[in-house]
Amino acid sequence: MTETELILNKSSMLEEVKSGLFQQQKSLPSKFFYDERGSKLFNDITELDEYYPTRTERKILEDNIEEIAKYLGKKVLLIEPGSGSSSKTKILLSNMQNICCYIPMDISGDYLNKVAEQLRTEYPNIQILPLSADYTKPFDLPKSSPDARKVVFYPGSTIGNFKMEKVQQFLKVIHDIIGKDGAFLIGVDLKKDIEVLKAAYNDSKSITAEFNKNILNHLNEELGLSFNPNLFDHKAIWNEEKGRIEMHLFVKEDHSVTVDDKVIDFIKGESIHTENSHKYSLNEFADMVSNWFDVKKVWTDEKDFFSLQYLEPK
Ligand code: AVI
Repeated sequence: MTETELILNKSSMLEEVKSGLFQQQKSLPSKFFYDERGSKLFNDITELDEYYPTRTERKILEDNIEEIAKYLGKKVLLIEPGSGSSSKTKILLSNMQNICCYIPMDISGDYLNKVAEQLRTEYPNIQILPLSADYTKPFDLPKSSPDARKVVFYPGSTIGNFKMEKVQQFLKVIHDIIGKDGAFLIGVDLKKDIEVLKAAYNDSKSITAEFNKNILNHLNEELGLSFNPNLFDHKAIWNEEKGRIEMHLFVKEDHSVTVDDKVIDFIKGESIHTENSHKYSLNEFADMVSNWFDVKKVWTDEKDFFSLQYLEPK
């Protein structure tokens, strides 16, 4: 990133933080979880006993790989928004012969290029074309992309972290990028016993608590703020009406923090809402995407905890 981009980034981060913290129900955007420590903590979460999504989705992919390959077609250009370490995608790259090109996408160009270098060594027969872009806004594919069926892979049920209005914006971006012959392969977390959900987001080792509080460390570092994460308690609650797990940081004692010359009071018992993780029934999900896509195939695990869904554009 250039120096000007860095400054612009910081000022837009500050604006987002201010607009969230000046609301009656204080909130912070969940994308600010992911500094280096936050990404590492998220990785630790995915290995927890209580956090079922990651291993369940991996198993669905492994168990159904041949059928999935058939749905994707003979010559595939695979695009992955928010690819990170591409760990789940490697299940596809290693086991499918039909992928001719892989476009991992991330905002952080440095990390993306590092991962792309490793992928080129591991998969010499697949063209690797990293693309550094914000996939929530319209973007163009690299000019050198080969002519093949465009398939977007979006695992992890990350769509569940979007605000409802952003979901539609994102679906339109994907719909437009794959064109009328493309496909969308997406991981979607399902509604289930509330106790299973609550345990997954309030784990016994308190890694999720660390992950949640780390958002404050990140803001301190990036914006020079002086949050004390020890003055907050993590709690994830189930919101039945909205069908989502909500992560909050509850204030343990009255205190205040100055943000951009404005003093913000934090009163004991109130919370900062940091994340939503929506869970869907199969019908709810099909309805939510129905402006843009038809659900053509759903794979699930034996407990129906998680789903991998194959969508085609309308
Ligand atoms: C990234 N995302 C799909 C995770 C989720 O389950 O909503 C983030 C997460 N938050 C707490 N634990 C995991």
